[in-house]
Parts: sequence; structure tokens; C-alpha cells
Amino acid sequence: MKRILLFLIITYAFSQDWFITNYEYGKMLYHNPRGISCAKCHGEKAKGKIIAKYYVTKKHKNGTVEKILKVVKAPNIQNVSYDELKERLLHYKYLSVMPKYNYLTKEEIEALYLYIHAQKDKK
Ligand code: HEC
Repeated sequence: MKRILLFLIITYAFSQDWFITNYEYGKMLYHNPRGISCAKCHGEKAKGKIIAKYYVTKKHKNGTVEKILKVVKAPNIQNVSYDELKERLLHYKYLSVMPKYNYLTKEEIEALYLYIHAQKDKK
């Protein structure tokens, strides 16, 4: 009897996709969103990070040359709202370092949202 019950539970679990949680799905998408990994720019824990640093030189009228440090940063996104995230991924119209991900589905964005927010508790 016990064996039959166990068998039924396992069969049911497989049919319900219990083995990959939404969190794991979100984690997978964060690292491989069918494009460049979000982690590459926003960091493992979505805290944001510096992507690149470079200098530009500016010549002043008096002949001096000034070197200006430019920093390209991906922001912390741990507190982004679901609507902001969706908007940013699907309908962004401006030129940005961040690529377009307008092929992501509603379910994928929800899983990403769950994963990103869960990173707040991690140090
Ligand atoms: C090549 C680097 C890069 C990658 C890859 C990238 N981002 Fe970004 N992201 C940025 C930069 C830079 C900004 C800030 C400028 C902007 O909004 O375009 C940004 C902005 C955002 C914002 C808006 C944050 C705010 O406060 O306005 C969200 C949300 C976001 N990214 C989520 C993601 C997610 C989710 C992924 C993966 C599917 C991702 N990003 C992949 C570089 C990147």
C-alpha cells in the first residue's frame, strides 16, 4: 500500500512540473534569457555593477586638455516593480547599452520578477 501511494505521489509530481520551481525557472532565465545574461551587467544578485570605465579627452579653449572619466553602470534592480520590469523589457524605446528582450513571455517575466526580488534577502 505504501509503495502504491508513493508511486502515485511521484507520478502526480511529475505531471505537475513540481521539479522545477518558479524560482529556479527565474534563475535560469536571469542567466540565460535567450540573449545576453542579465547577471553579466546587473550582477549575480541584481545589485547592479559597473560595466565599463573609460576616459574622454576634452580640449579647452585655453589649450589645456582635460581627461574625464566616464562610467557605464547597470543599476540595482532589486526593487523594480513588476510593471516597471515588464515595461523595460518589452517596450523600451531609447538607445541603451542594455539589449532588447521583447520576445519574453508574461510567464517568463513573472519568473524573472520573482527571482530578482528574492535576491534582496541575500547578502
Ligand atoms: C549589456 C548590459 C545589460 C544587460 C545584459 C541587461 N541590462 Fe538591464 N540595464 C542595463 C543598463 C546600462 C541599464 C540602465 C540604462 C537603461 O535603462 O537602459 C539597465 C536598466 C534596467 C532596468 C531599469 C532599471 C531602472 O531603475 O530604471 C531593468 C528593470 C533591467 N535593466 C533589467 C534587466 C533584466 C531583467 C535583464 C535580463 C533579461 C537585463 N536588464 C539585462 C544594462 C544591462
